[in-house]
Amino acid sequence: MKGIVLAGGAGTRLYPLTMVTSKQLLPVYNKPMIYYPLSTLMLARIRDILIISTKEDTPNIIKLLGDGSQFGIKLSYKVQERPEGLAQAFTLGKDFIGDDSCAMVLGDNIFYGNGLGRKLAAAAKTTEEGMASIFGYYVEDPERFGIMEFNRKSDGFEESYEVVSVEEKPKNPKSNYAIVGLYFYPKGVSEMAAQVKPSARGELEITTLNDMYLKQGRLQAQLLGRGFTWMDAGTVDSLRRATNFVCMIEQYQGMTISAPEEIAFRLGWIDADQLEESAIKYGKSPYGEHLRAVLEGKVIS
Ligand code: G1P
Repeated sequence: MKGIVLAGGAGTRLYPLTMVTSKQLLPVYNKPMIYYPLSTLMLARIRDILIISTKEDTPNIIKLLGDGSQFGIKLSYKVQERPEGLAQAFTLGKDFIGDDSCAMVLGDNIFYGNGLGRKLAAAAKTTEEGMASIFGYYVEDPERFGIMEFNRKSDGFEESYEVVSVEEKPKNPKSNYAIVGLYFYPKGVSEMAAQVKPSARGELEITTLNDMYLKQGRLQAQLLGRGFTWMDAGTVDSLRRATNFVCMIEQYQGMTISAPEEIAFRLGWIDADQLEESAIKYGKSPYGEHLRAVLEGKVIS
């Protein structure tokens, strides 16, 4: 399975913060924002990743992340000349995706929770069998998001969720469950995305793509319930909240989250020498110290 981090857009909601830099390079507490969505794809066991960004921002993202070998992954880059909506990622990524299934995460979306990796890896597996996967998260302001309406089913052991409808930023939301910015699609997604027509607001909506899978009976949903946190960091206020959240978690738990080098090391994608190289590169920063603690076996997981 391939993965895409969509890190485009001008970030106008964050002006003047994003006048000369990419939103996805802004700090969320102690690391650049893009480390979080990248970590999410890595936790889903995805190692071949395309980063889509603007012409101006791509060189800086490359400067930060390079070819991905320090994370035991392969990174490629694609410039998005004009942002025309989230579904455009799959037509821009057509050659990269080839005949594979593909996940996409939004570059300003942050996911956190114990067992997240296992949940995502399971979704990736179902996707390879032909189903698209989306995730719902309870919100109090459903007018701001893509929303899913669903029926809850239980066989006594496991719960599953049958999607009834998906709607982008509805005036009268049918539920309080937002569709988060992490999507898994089976092979053929570029061809499906090419059929998406612009919405009333002129965008190639991801929700339209999800609706196409729903109509074909190929859309499954899971909830990110208690114990999981999802947030986007695309506005001044949500960026501050994200920073506060990461700071609290890291201070109370005493460990750094969303460190791609650590994830790679634990998954066996890089060895101790490579981890040490990164720890040395980051020097005396708390991030560098965390990598050193992982290397010395002081932090177990
Ligand atoms: C986009 C999607 C929306 C989704 C949201 C998650 O909205 O269109 O369906 O719920 O991301 O962050 P945007 O933030 O681009 O307005």
